[in-house]
Amino acid sequence: MNVLLTALRAVAEPTRLRLFALCAEGALSVSELAQILGQSQPRVSRHLKLLTDAGLLERVPEGSWVFHRLVADGPGLPIAQQLTGLLPEADRTLALDRERLDRAKEARARAAQRYFRRNAAGWDRLRSLHVDEEEVERVLLGLMPTDGEEELLDVGTGTGRMLEVFGPGVRRARGIDLSVEMLAVARSNLDRVGLGNCQVRQADLFQLPFSAESFDAVTCHQVLHFVDDPARAITESARVLKPGGRMLVVDFAPHEQEDLRRDNEHRRLGFGDAEVSGWLAASRLDIRDVVHLPGDPLTVTVWLGAKEAAA
Ligand SMILES: C[S@@+](CC[C@H](N)C(=O)[O-])C[C@H]1O[C@@H](n2cnc3c(N)ncnc32)[C@H](O)[C@@H]1O
Repeated sequence: MNVLLTALRAVAEPTRLRLFALCAEGALSVSELAQILGQSQPRVSRHLKLLTDAGLLERVPEGSWVFHRLVADGPGLPIAQQLTGLLPEADRTLALDRERLDRAKEARARAAQRYFRRNAAGWDRLRSLHVDEEEVERVLLGLMPTDGEEELLDVGTGTGRMLEVFGPGVRRARGIDLSVEMLAVARSNLDRVGLGNCQVRQADLFQLPFSAESFDAVTCHQVLHFVDDPARAITESARVLKPGGRMLVVDFAPHEQEDLRRDNEHRRLGFGDAEVSGWLAASRLDIRDVVHLPGDPLTVTVWLGAKEAAA
């Protein structure tokens, strides 16, 4: 009874209910929440602490930012889920908060797209600055061997590097990206190496223009740290995977390089194994392998999941 009472007391205040509703939309930083609510960060932090202590939210510190999101487990989880279902859709204050959240997300997405527009031509060089690219690609090919028959999708393909790596070993490969500038470079890269079985098109990875269960393999290479809602990105990619299909996610391990956030539009400073494995598992993917490729100062992690075969 105490868990329930503490949780109910925590949300029984307008600002805290608004914060709870916003965090139900995905992980948000304290400064983002303060901006949406138009309240000071210390005040918002105090409210967030009460919600966290009550077991409804969890804190995810990352560099100089602290994200808050609904708990993923624990005694507060069923209460948080029930409360989420009770939030009044039509309430004007909550609707306005959601609108402000959407505007903040759009502004961030535009900033990221401007970054990729500016860096499209030099991206292949920028990518190789982090960890030895050849080593990463050798590991990827070893972890996910192909037999020439697969249909592969590369989400957030950028300049199409994953298509160049996997294209020769599959029947057909598609790449999608939001940035037309990156896609222009991808097309010329694919032409240069003569990969006629690889095509790219503009699309949003949160709304893939493909029907369910249409690919044997999905790759997502150095994309998740740019997006607002990596969990949803994985869910949408898993949707288009056939039963038994494999998904390769590549990103940085947790790090402290704040400059990447400031100068390179990274939203997340890497991901822990448990976090990504949890997202894969929630999309009914079994974790087949996790490999760390240490670099200085950044470590690259590769997660391989396989979608449960049909019953
Ligand atoms: C860091 S680049 C990585 C590109 C490529 N996978 C690689 O490793 O070279 C991230 C890419 O994700 C794309 N991206 C970001 N958000 C996206 C979205 N919502 N839908 C599709 N692409 C997106 C960006 O345009 C960018 O090209």
